[in-house]
Amino acid sequence: MRILKVAVVVMATFAGAGVVLAQSGADVVRAKGCNNCHAKVGPSFKTIAAKKGDQAAQVAKLRDGKGHPKIKATEEEIKASVEYVNAQK
Ligand code: HEC
Repeated sequence: MRILKVAVVVMATFAGAGVVLAQSGADVVRAKGCNNCHAKVGPSFKTIAAKKGDQAAQVAKLRDGKGHPKIKATEEEIKASVEYVNAQK
């Protein structure tokens, strides 16, 4: 718990300073709970990757919540997570 608190404070500090934290796609997927749905109520990441869909369109879907539950994250975070999803084999 203590570590979590420190992390939150550190993140808040960075956000306040306007520093963009480059999060890896895997981090975003973990932080946003994508796995709460995927491979459960949604398709698995492997299934999505196998379709080789248009990643820009997927980013838009997640960002705008059209045809996909809306994801509250920055454009960069969504992009990174979509790239991560499509890199699964
Ligand atoms: C509330 C449940 C839920 C959450 C949370 C969720 N998804 Fe999804 N996702 C779905 C469902 C259901 C589909 C299948 C319908 C569709 O294609 O939009 C899907 C489809 C997708 C697709 C394929 C879209 C396409 O056009 O083929 C991608 C990529 C994706 N999700 C990525 C993510 C990422 C990344 C996250 C976390 C940031 C996430 N999802 C969180 C339910 C969810």
